[in-house]
Amino acid sequence: MQFWDRHPIWFTGPLGKEHPSRVRALEIIGTVGKILEIGCGNGVDFAEMLRRGTFLQLYCAIDVTKTYIDYLTSKYPKSNRYEFIYAGNGLNHAASQFPTKYFDVAYARAVLEHNVDFVEIIDIMLRLSKRTIVTFFIPPREPEVIRTNVFDGHPHYNNRYSKARFENYVSQRGTFQVHHVPLDPSRHLVDPLNVDQIHTIYEITAE
Ligand SMILES: C[S@@+](CC[C@H](N)C(=O)[O-])C[C@H]1O[C@@H](n2cnc3c(N)ncnc32)[C@H](O)[C@@H]1O
Repeated sequence: MQFWDRHPIWFTGPLGKEHPSRVRALEIIGTVGKILEIGCGNGVDFAEMLRRGTFLQLYCAIDVTKTYIDYLTSKYPKSNRYEFIYAGNGLNHAASQFPTKYFDVAYARAVLEHNVDFVEIIDIMLRLSKRTIVTFFIPPREPEVIRTNVFDGHPHYNNRYSKARFENYVSQRGTFQVHHVPLDPSRHLVDPLNVDQIHTIYEITAE
């Protein structure tokens, strides 16, 4: 069982569709033809994208947690406008079915920091899309901290990447803009163990 199989993500309220970093990311995305979401969870942002008409042609989601993909596949009627893909053989394998720059936007929220490193995911997103939008749930800041919890035999990471290393990496692959999303601690938007959290959205346009 994956870590995320045991950790539901809220749909409604301040941690769900009203969360300021979701609202801001969807504003930045705007309306696009095709969108890829890496680490869709239980589809909070997908539900909002459907409601807002964010994508005109296609939404594809890839997640390593089977429970979420099964849930989304059973919740939404079959359609050629959206697809939920279980990355049972890893993200790279699941992503390899798509041609270069197939998507207008690749989006990942609160995903990078739960991996051993950001490089593989960022490379995949930049390869497959014209515009990459990532939201860090825990902001990148110095010094870099790599934390690993083993959960049911699987590693689960809660990493804080070095902002300098991240920005240096993406600047070699394109141009980027940073959007800071201030959070109001009094609204319980902030993890009490990380009260200095600021959600940061990077919008990267690949060369
Ligand atoms: C904190 S949850 C965020 C879910 C969703 N993006 C949201 O904001 O509600 C992290 C999600 O990313 C998925 N995930 C983590 N690493 C992944 C990877 N390398 N490839 C695909 N999915 C991944 C997990 O299974 C989980 O669903």
